[in-house]
Amino acid sequence: MFERLDRVPDDPILGLMAAFRADLDPRKVDLGVGVYRNDRGETPVLEAVRQAERAVLQRQTSKTYVAPSGNAGFNQAIERLVLGGSHPALAAGRVRTIQSPGGCGALRLGAELIRLARPGATIHVSTPTWANHVPLLGGSGLQLARYPYYDAATGGVSFAAMLGALEQLPAASVVLLHGSCHNPSGADLSEGQWRELCAVLSRRELVPYVDLAYQGLGQGLEEDAYGVRLLASELPELLVAVSCSKNFGLYRERTGALTVIGPSPAAADAGLSQLVRIARTLYSMPPDHGAAIVAELLGTPELEGAWQGELSAMRGRITGLRAQLVAQLRQACPERDFSFIERQRGMFSFLGVSSEQVRALRERHHVYLTEDSRMNIAGLRDENLAYFAAAVAQVVRGSQRS
Ligand code: LMR
Repeated sequence: MFERLDRVPDDPILGLMAAFRADLDPRKVDLGVGVYRNDRGETPVLEAVRQAERAVLQRQTSKTYVAPSGNAGFNQAIERLVLGGSHPALAAGRVRTIQSPGGCGALRLGAELIRLARPGATIHVSTPTWANHVPLLGGSGLQLARYPYYDAATGGVSFAAMLGALEQLPAASVVLLHGSCHNPSGADLSEGQWRELCAVLSRRELVPYVDLAYQGLGQGLEEDAYGVRLLASELPELLVAVSCSKNFGLYRERTGALTVIGPSPAAADAGLSQLVRIARTLYSMPPDHGAAIVAELLGTPELEGAWQGELSAMRGRITGLRAQLVAQLRQACPERDFSFIERQRGMFSFLGVSSEQVRALRERHHVYLTEDSRMNIAGLRDENLAYFAAAVAQVVRGSQRS
C-alpha cells in the first residue's frame, strides 16, 4: 500500500534546521527554527533545570505509569505560572489542566476537544500565524479561517481590522490568539488592546484559544500573561495551550499542558474527562521527565528564583540584539527603515524581504530564514551581526556579489 503514497515536502521550519546542519560554510547564520541561542550559538540546558533534573533523578524510584492527565504537581504549577496564584478562576474552581506532549500536543488536544463540543466550529487564526498551527489544528477535522493581524507597513498589529473581522463572527466561533511574542511577527497586543479585544470576545460570545509558548521571553512572566489572565477573569470559557520548550529550554523533552477554563467547576471537570479520553486514544500518556523537572523547579523557591534570573537574561539578550540589529541595519542599509524590529517582542520578527531575497540570503550568504522572511533574533551573535546586516544590504540592493 505504501507505493501509493507521494513524498511530501519537508516541514518549512524543521526542513531548514536540517539544511543549516548540512551547510559546512563557517560563516553560516541560523535564524530559522525558534530555539534560544546564547552568544556562542549554543542552546544550553538551563542551570536551574539541570539542578531540578538532578533532584528528580535522585528521588525517582520507579518508572511506572503516571496518568493520562500527566504529573499533577506539574499541572498545578503551570496553572499558577500562567494565571498567577490568586486568580479568581482558580478560586472559583473553574480551571483544569492536562499535561501534554509539548505545546503542539496541547494545541491538538484543544482542537480535538472543540470538535467534540462543537463539530461544526471554525477556528480563526491570525494572518499570519505559526506555520504549524494550520496542519496541527486543521488535522482535527475542524475548519480554519483567518483574521487580519500583522501590518507590514508599521510592523505593528492591524488592530482595527482585526477587531472588525472578529465583530463579524458568529457566536461560539473559536479565536486562536498568541498570548505573547507573536510567532512569526513579534507584533504583540498592548494591554489596552487586550482589554478592547476582551470586550469584543465577550459581546460576540466568541471562545478564545490562547497559544502561550513564550511566556517570559517578551516583557516578563507577568507582563506576557496579561492577556490570558484578563480573558480568564472576564470570560466564561477559555483554552490555553502552554509550551515549556522555550522558557524552560526543554525542547526535546516535549513538555506542555492544555488548560481548560469552564463556566463552572462541573463543566471544567467534564472537559478534563474528555481530554483524558482523547489523550488515552491518541498516545495514552505524556512523557514524564520534562514535567517532573518543571514541577520540581517551580516547587522549589530557590530554583524558581534562579530560573527567573536565567529567563530574564535570555529576554535581555534578545531585547539587546533587537536594538543592535536595528543599529547595524541602519548603518549597512540606511535607505530602508528596520526600526520596527526594536518595537517587536520575543524571538521572531519578519525581515520584510521577498522569498527570492530569502533564497539569495541562503544561497549566497549562508543565512537561514523561513521563506516568509521570519528570523529568529536569538540566532544572531555579536560576531555575526555586521555580517548579517551586510548580507541583507546586498540582497536588498539586488547585488550579485557574495
Ligand atoms: C518555531 O516556530 O520555529 C518553533 O516553534 C519550532 C517549531 O516546532 O516550529
